[in-house]
Amino acid sequence: MNVPDHISHQAQNLRHTIELHNYNYYALDTPTIPDAEYDKLFRELQELEQRYPQLVTPDSPTRRIGAAPLKAFSQIVHRTPMLSLGNAFETAEVDAFDRRVRQTLGVDNVEYMVEPKFDGLAVSLRYEEGVFTTGATRGDGYIGEDVTLNLRTVKSIPLHLHAGLGNESPPALLEVRGEVLMLKADFERLNRQQREKNEKEFINPRNAAAGALRQLDPGITATRRLTFFAYGIGADIDGNVPHDKQSRILDYLASLHFPVARERSVVKGVTALLDHHREIEGMRECLPYDIDGTVYKVNDLAQQVKLGFVSRAPRFAVAHKFPAQEAVTEVLGIDVQVGRTGTLTPVARLKPVFVGGVTVTNATLHNEDEIRRKDVMIGDSVIVRRAGDVIPEVVAVQREKRSMHVKSFVMPDHCPVCGARAVRLPGEAVTRCTGGLFCPAQRKQAILHYASRRAMNIDGLGDKLVEQLVDNAIIRTPADLYRLGLAALAALERMAKKSAGNIINAIEKSKHTTLARFIYSLGIRNVGETTAKDLARYFGNLDRLMTADTEVLQQVPDIGPVVAESIVDFFAERHNLEVIEQLRAGGVRWEEGSGTQLAEADSGVGLGQLRGKTFVLTGTLPNLSREDAKEKIEALGGKVTGSVSKRTDYVVAGSDPGSKYDKAVELRIAILDERGLLQLVQDSQIDGRSNSENP
Ligand code: IVH
Repeated sequence: MNVPDHISHQAQNLRHTIELHNYNYYALDTPTIPDAEYDKLFRELQELEQRYPQLVTPDSPTRRIGAAPLKAFSQIVHRTPMLSLGNAFETAEVDAFDRRVRQTLGVDNVEYMVEPKFDGLAVSLRYEEGVFTTGATRGDGYIGEDVTLNLRTVKSIPLHLHAGLGNESPPALLEVRGEVLMLKADFERLNRQQREKNEKEFINPRNAAAGALRQLDPGITATRRLTFFAYGIGADIDGNVPHDKQSRILDYLASLHFPVARERSVVKGVTALLDHHREIEGMRECLPYDIDGTVYKVNDLAQQVKLGFVSRAPRFAVAHKFPAQEAVTEVLGIDVQVGRTGTLTPVARLKPVFVGGVTVTNATLHNEDEIRRKDVMIGDSVIVRRAGDVIPEVVAVQREKRSMHVKSFVMPDHCPVCGARAVRLPGEAVTRCTGGLFCPAQRKQAILHYASRRAMNIDGLGDKLVEQLVDNAIIRTPADLYRLGLAALAALERMAKKSAGNIINAIEKSKHTTLARFIYSLGIRNVGETTAKDLARYFGNLDRLMTADTEVLQQVPDIGPVVAESIVDFFAERHNLEVIEQLRAGGVRWEEGSGTQLAEADSGVGLGQLRGKTFVLTGTLPNLSREDAKEKIEALGGKVTGSVSKRTDYVVAGSDPGSKYDKAVELRIAILDERGLLQLVQDSQIDGRSNSENP
C-alpha cells in the first residue's frame, strides 16, 4: 500500500515533535507538555507506523524499544581511540599539571575548560548523515562492544541530529563521545524494585548503569532508564564542527540536542581551576547524577595538538578526583545502638578506613532484614560508602573473600542499654527496646515528650535543659521532675533564678491533668493524642487500661492488633510501672470515671448497643452480603473478627458454613442465622432508643 503524502508528513512531524519533547524532558529537564499529551503523540505515531510499516525509520522514536535480544555483542573498532585521563588527587598535582602545560606551550597563563567528571561508562556514538547508526562501549580503548540497540533505548541520546536554526545539513560522519549513567533517582527506584522482588541490590548507580548497558536484551535496558551526557567529539567528516575550542565543541553538541553538563566553565590559571573544582564539589550531593571529580582540559584545540599525548593519556587534560566515597574494609564486630525512640540499629564496627575524606570506624547496617539481605557477617570484607554528610553505610559484602571464620549476627532480644525486652512486631523492620521511660538512651526524648505542650505541658522544659538534667544525673525519668528542687535547677548553666522558679511552677501546675493527657505523655508506641483520648474515654481509669489484654483493647473503637500489642508491651515492662507509680506518688492526678466500657456492661447505655460483642461470620447469608452484615454490626459498636474463640459472642452462619460453625458448636457459642442477626440488630436499636430517651 502506498503511503499518501500527507500521512508521511504527519509521521515526520510527529517524530520531530516527539524527539523535541524527549530533548526538553531528558536533556533540559524542562518538559513543556504534560505526560499524557506526550503519550498521545507517541501512540499516534505508533498507530501510523502500524498501518504503514514502510514509514518506520531506524531513527523513529518508536524504535527506542522493541528490538529482539542479542546472543552476544559484536565488536566495533573505534575510528579514533578512546583514551583515558591522568589523575590528580592533591593540589600539588594540579599545580604540576598546569606548570607542565605552561612550559610546553611557552605561555604564562592558560585557558582551561572545567567540566564535571561523570561517574558512568564511556561510549562513542556514531552518526552518519545525521542519523544514529552505531554505539560502542570503550572496551580496551581501541575496540569496544556494539551496544547500539541498548543505546537506542536511552531517551536522552538523539536518534538523529537536530538541524539547528539554520537547518544546516549534518556532518557526513560524527562520532560523539560521552558518558552513559544512571540518575540517582532512577537508581533508588531500581533498588527499591529489587528489594520488593527480594533480589540483589546494586551497589551504586555506576554499577547499575554498567549492568544495564551490557544487557543482551534491550527490553531490560529500556526499563532501567539510563541517561547520557556528551563531553567531546571522536571524529567528524564534512560538517560545521568547530575546530578551535573545547568550549565551542560542547556548545555545538548542545545545539545538536545532546545533553551537556551545565556546570561547565572556561577559566584562566590554576587558582581559578581549583576554585571551580571546589565549587563543583560543593554541588556534588545536589546533582542528580554521581560525579567523581572534575576534568580540566586546555581549551584551545591547537594548543591541545601541541601538547599531544603520553602513552594512552592526553597531556592537555587531567582528571582532578574527589576523595573516593567507597572503600573496602573489614567488619570487626556488629554493635547495637539504641536510638531515641528505642529503635535498635545494628552498626558495623570497622577496621578504620579513609573514605569520603574522613576516617570511618562505624557504618550503619540499618536493621536485621538489611543484614540478612546483604548477607553481612562479622569478619567479612565489605564495601563501605560515605557520601557527603550521609552516615557511612555498608553497601555490599565481598563474598569471594569470605573466610571460614566469619560469625553471623543475632539481634539481641534485650536492650543492650537497659536490659528491657527488645521486640520486633510483625510487619515491622525494626526491633525496639520496650524499656520506654526507663531506658537511658530513650530517657531524654521520653522526658521531652512527657513535658511537651499536648502532653503534660511543662512550659520552659526544653531540650537543652533536659540534656543538662539527664547528663548530670539530676533526673532519670519524668517522675524525678516532681522531686526537682529550685536550688538544683538554679545551679545549672545559663539558668537564672527567676526562670528556674518559673519552671518549678510549671512542673507543679502539670500535676493536675486529665487521664487522656497522662496516657499520651507516657509515650507508648503507636499511641498518639487521639488514641490516648479514645483509651481514656473507654476505660475511664488508668488501672483498667493497665490490666487490659489485647482482646479487650481491641474492643476500643479504632484500636487494632498493632496498637493493642504496643500498649500491652508497654505495661508489661516493670520499669514503666514503677515510673507510673512514682508519678502518682509525686502528686500527678486526674479525674477518673467508669468509662464507656463499664457504662455499657452495667446499664447498656452507650452509643452502640452491641459494643463489646464479638461476631464471626461464616457461610452465605440469603439476603445480606458479608459487607452489609458487618456494617450493621459495626454501626451498633460490635466487632467482626475472623476466627472463633472463647471470646466470640455470636457466630452468624449462612448456607455452606465452614469449620467456624463446628467450632462454635464445640465452644457452645450462640449461633444466629440471618433472621436472628436482624432481630438482634432491631432489638439493640430499640434498646438504644429507649435508653437514650430515659437515661
Ligand atoms: S574527556 C582523552 N570529559 O573519564 C580522554 N572524560 O579517565 C577524553 N569522563 O573514560 C576524556 N567525564 O569516561 C572526559 N567531562 C569528561 C568526563 C570524562 C567522565 C570519563 C571518561 C573517560 C574517563 C577518563
